[in-house]
Order: sequence, then structure tokens, then C-alpha cells
Amino acid sequence: SAERTYVMIKPDGVARGLIGDVISRFENKGLQLVAMKLVQVTPEHAEKHYEDLKSKPFFAGLVEFITSGPVCAMVWKGPNAVRIGRLLVGATNPAEAAVGTVRGDLAADISRNIVHASDAVESANHEIALWFKDEEITSWDLPA
Ligand code: CMP
Repeated sequence: SAERTYVMIKPDGVARGLIGDVISRFENKGLQLVAMKLVQVTPEHAEKHYEDLKSKPFFAGLVEFITSGPVCAMVWKGPNAVRIGRLLVGATNPAEAAVGTVRGDLAADISRNIVHASDAVESANHEIALWFKDEEITSWDLPA
């Protein structure tokens, strides 16, 4: 079924010039880009996005990192977009991410793992609403 997922290239990915590489992987897989913007994240917004991790020892460092430079915020759409997004991105820990995935190919450090992708349909809907206004999300059709 058609789904939407929230994907974010983090400051390390932007700084390393990996925006195009990540977008190409999603486009080549057949997902559809329906919204995108560069955002300088505030600490308040970062804390909302990572709300569930508030009790983790790395939370403060994570917020500091995600606010350290612009992120590329995107919404991708397609059948099973959430699951496919996770597949393309690979395991959270780059040491466990399969070769062929973004993290498996391009990252070595769990706190600098280039990209975020929603882990479930519910969190995708929550994150999309947190990062985008309705009018920022386009509606268009991929060629058949
Ligand atoms: P992300 O998919 O954005 O979701 C939460 C992030 O927390 C995760 O990617 C990692 O970048 C980060 N993270 C998870 N575990 C650790 C850890 N043990 N140390 C530092 N950062 C972590």
C-alpha cells in the first residue's frame, strides 16, 4: 500500500556532500520525492524529533550534533515506503549495516550515521507532521 516516510540527511551527510548520493539511491529504488528542504534545526525542534531518546546517555550529544549544521529533510512516497526506506538506509549501527546500504557503504560511526528514516508508519506520520506543513508536501504522479 502507498505510504509516506520521513527521511533526513543529517549534518554529517550534508557536510560530506552525500545529499545527491542518498537521493539517487531512493530515486533509483523507485520511491517518489514529494517534499524536501534544508533546515537549520533548533535545539527545541531536535528534542521533539528525538523525544523517545530523552533518557539515553547520548541524547545531549545527539541534539548538539543534529543542530550543528543544516539537515536535508525529505518526504518519500511509495508502496511500503517506510520499510523500503529502512532497507536502503541500513542498520542504525554502521558496524552492522549491510554493504549496499547508505550506512553500510558510507558510515563507520553510530553517532555520525548520515541519515535518519522513520521506523514505522505511525512514527513516519508523526515525523512528517513535525517537519512539514501540509502545503509544503507536493502531490504529483510518477510516470507509469
Ligand atoms: P537515527 O536513525 O537518527 O535515530 C536515533 C539516533 O541516535 C541514531 O540514528 C543514531 O545516530 C543515534 N544513536 C543511536 N545509538 C547511539 C549511541 N549508542 N551513541 C550515539 N548515538 C547513537
